[in-house]
Amino acid sequence: MVSGGPKFYVTTPIYYANAKPHLGSLYSTVLADVAARIHKMSGKETFLLTGTDEHGQKIAQAAEALGKTPQQLVDQESQEFKKLWDVYGIRYNHFIRTTDESHVRGVQAWILQLIKQGDIYKGTYSGWYCVPCETYVADKDVEIGVVPQCISCSRPTTELSEESYFFRLSAYQDKLLAFYKDHPDFITPVERMQEVISFVVGGLKDLSISRTTVTWGIPFPGDERHKVYVWADALNNYITGVGYPHNMPEFNYWWPADLHVLGKDIVRFHAVYWPAFLMATDLPLPLRLLVHGWIKVGEQKMSKSLGNVIDPFTLAQTYGPDQVRYYLIRHMSITQDSPFSREDLEKRLNSDLANDLGNLLNRMLTLALKHGLSTVIAPSQLQGPELDLRDKLWSMLNDFSIDMEDYFFNRAYLHVWKFISSVNAYFHTQEPWKLADKEPERFKAVISATCHSLYAIALTVWPVMPRKMEELLAALGASWEPGTNVFERLSVDAWLKTFTLQPHVPLFERYETATQTPEPPCQEKTSCPASYASFDDFLRIELRVGTIEDCQEIPKSDKLYKLTVDFGSLGKRLICSGIKQYFKPEELISRQAVFVYNLQPRAIMGIQSQGMLLTAQDTDNKLSLVTTTKPVVNGSLLK
Ligand code: MSP
Repeated sequence: MVSGGPKFYVTTPIYYANAKPHLGSLYSTVLADVAARIHKMSGKETFLLTGTDEHGQKIAQAAEALGKTPQQLVDQESQEFKKLWDVYGIRYNHFIRTTDESHVRGVQAWILQLIKQGDIYKGTYSGWYCVPCETYVADKDVEIGVVPQCISCSRPTTELSEESYFFRLSAYQDKLLAFYKDHPDFITPVERMQEVISFVVGGLKDLSISRTTVTWGIPFPGDERHKVYVWADALNNYITGVGYPHNMPEFNYWWPADLHVLGKDIVRFHAVYWPAFLMATDLPLPLRLLVHGWIKVGEQKMSKSLGNVIDPFTLAQTYGPDQVRYYLIRHMSITQDSPFSREDLEKRLNSDLANDLGNLLNRMLTLALKHGLSTVIAPSQLQGPELDLRDKLWSMLNDFSIDMEDYFFNRAYLHVWKFISSVNAYFHTQEPWKLADKEPERFKAVISATCHSLYAIALTVWPVMPRKMEELLAALGASWEPGTNVFERLSVDAWLKTFTLQPHVPLFERYETATQTPEPPCQEKTSCPASYASFDDFLRIELRVGTIEDCQEIPKSDKLYKLTVDFGSLGKRLICSGIKQYFKPEELISRQAVFVYNLQPRAIMGIQSQGMLLTAQDTDNKLSLVTTTKPVVNGSLLK
């Protein structure tokens, strides 16, 4: 089934402990848990590392806002992640926290080694800094609008200049390119590899790995005014979490990681910086990165910073943890972003679980037990329809295995669900309810084929819905043995088993349409969908009409115009707007438009900008000014 050595070491990203986990955090973790379980079923010893990223500016800011110390906040929030992993049956071997003493010492030892060998030096860094992403953002990744924004998280960036220690990343450019060439499968999906290669080919600058502006972090060894920059701290969790350098035998057993699971937003850190860090320390590189897309709410990424997160605790209560795991694995795409909605979740749970799988088990069990058939043995001879079904099973196992090699979980489980449809079709066409009295041997053969199919389904689906599939196996009076390669055995003895059927309660519930299910009340700001602004929020924004009197280019800016806007009795204002690519000055001058009037003033390219011009973007990406249907007095308020 899955290849590689006798052990399998998989990691999740470590989650920022500045707020509670959300569905996106759960997604990365369920992917890693399913990968670990698949390998466990292939007979391997597995190690799943997860944990929390507990240092940095954002944590300190969040703690201050709550009147707590950073340590109090991370102690509390890391517990929430552990609780959630327990609810969802995540079988982690170690939960690392970057405030753990062993991690702190590990990072410091790593830095000392790099200083000694000349891979770290002191310099000055200045650039756009995005606080939510905890990183300096390249110029091309900053959207220069009225407020310069980080394009990754759509939050404002600030210009920063400070003394910093640097890692000689530039020295690893050629080695990295050679590594990518030799390991074209390093990143799944492979399409992401090209982005990484282009980034490295574009030239690597040395990487700032310390901050003097951050108080909450690992003290930089030898210069404690500096704290270790979060990524140099965080990425090392993958080695300190399995014993580096405090337990080298343990470390040497597990390292290198077989799989790092991560979201597309942090691919550069894992595909460029992390391999370079490891090369510098002469450690082997991880074998594979599994990079998944984002779960979206409407058009936006679900994220704590955007305040539109979906609470996975509530989802588990409403639908059951295994069912939510199933939905994430089967209906979120690894390669692309996927929208999440309760309507879709309920629709899939009804059709895939309650109808396709649950009903099949119910119908078979009810019928068999009603006719006194509780011990089901393997048929001595398989007939045409059963042979056909068995071939379908084997081809499903084959396709499943191929997609699993690449961790394309949603595709792998699509094959399983196609097979479930085939079993349903088989059951329906064989009409066993008509055979029970007239042709008892045929009746037994159909029940047996259905049981064998359900058994194979339960095993392949176990990594995703372990508790539910154990219930299914219990209803068949079957189980599986850890330590063997279950998938290999399935191909051998899938049709040779004896089952002892047990009465059971239906595995899956049906849901009425989600539109009739009221959303749970919004407990806290971070769990409200982004599309909801309270009425008070709305009232805080002052929108006014103004006439653009003048429009000037700003030297050295290819995006910005400086507008002079007349707001009538309220006076005139200078407003910078990033619309140069869309309008010529003559298309703007003398036009009325709507502006956010009470946006906090901001210095942009040396100009104090006092407001924001509103535009609408059409499907062809062109912009139109937002204005009123007839001219109004300048300064008019929108209500
Ligand atoms: N602390 C860093 C990771 C350091 S790893 C050495 C971090 N933390 S995070 O909490 O912001 O994100 C952790 C993971 O959750 C990332 O893989 C990220 O992609 C994932 N998700 C966060 N929001 C997500 C969605 N809306 N959808 C899917 N996953 C997303 O980055």
